[in-house]
Amino acid sequence: MTDDTAPAREKRMARDYFFPTPVYHTDLAQAQDINARLVADIRAWRARDPDGTFRSNVPQLGGWHSATDMHLRSQFSELTREIFELIHGVFADQGYDDAYEPVCDSMWANVNPRGAFNRHHTHPHALWSGVYYVRTPDDCGLLCLTDPRPQAHVITPYFDARRRSAHTWAEAYYQPVAGRLVAFPGWLVHSTHPNMASAGSEAVETEHEGGAGTGGDAASAAESARADERISVSFNFRQRRKDIDPATAPANEVVRADLFARRQSITNLIEISS
Ligand SMILES: [Fe+2]
Repeated sequence: MTDDTAPAREKRMARDYFFPTPVYHTDLAQAQDINARLVADIRAWRARDPDGTFRSNVPQLGGWHSATDMHLRSQFSELTREIFELIHGVFADQGYDDAYEPVCDSMWANVNPRGAFNRHHTHPHALWSGVYYVRTPDDCGLLCLTDPRPQAHVITPYFDARRRSAHTWAEAYYQPVAGRLVAFPGWLVHSTHPNMASAGSEAVETEHEGGAGTGGDAASAAESARADERISVSFNFRQRRKDIDPATAPANEVVRADLFARRQSITNLIEISS
């Protein structure tokens, strides 16, 4: 039906959007059980390796980044399987060649106490990256995704807030939710806002039924000191040809050769019929 009230200029023009930035997310069904084990295992890991690794975390503020071989450690296999399942879904939804499968290059745990955050960064060499939230006290810091087109930041128009589309956002935020798995392209600039959780938040109190109160005052004090901790797991994936032995052919080389081959033809020409 024709809308005769629309201005003439709106009836004459079409609008296309190119180069979108996909973000996938899902909530795990058994998250409560998985997370209880993850909290214990990650804290034990940190106790054994208190220095951890330095990446986007800020150690001066207590931000801990584990070693990056989490996907190879058997006690984390349950979560690793869930992450693989999501990434398989992403590969299918993106329309990737079935000859290629996802391979996890690295996976690690992050622990941010109150005040800690993760600086703006990307994940070099990763096709898909993401985060799983294990422990998320209230106000523990939003995930911030930044428009990856640097030119788009050169000028910011004045928008009517009532009509502004998400397509025009310069930043997008996700609230961390325990049990939620988020995947985004590895090239997407992202950061984590400072953890401003307070130790007395309701989310924290309900999470420690097996912790505080079972080991006397000392245990309760130790638990209270960690009550504001935000715990998450991050990961990196890339493509690998299924029929290539990774021991003899680095998958990155295979992917790169394939990309060059595809540049011989233009497959993304937009045809507009008038
Ligand atoms: Fe990251």
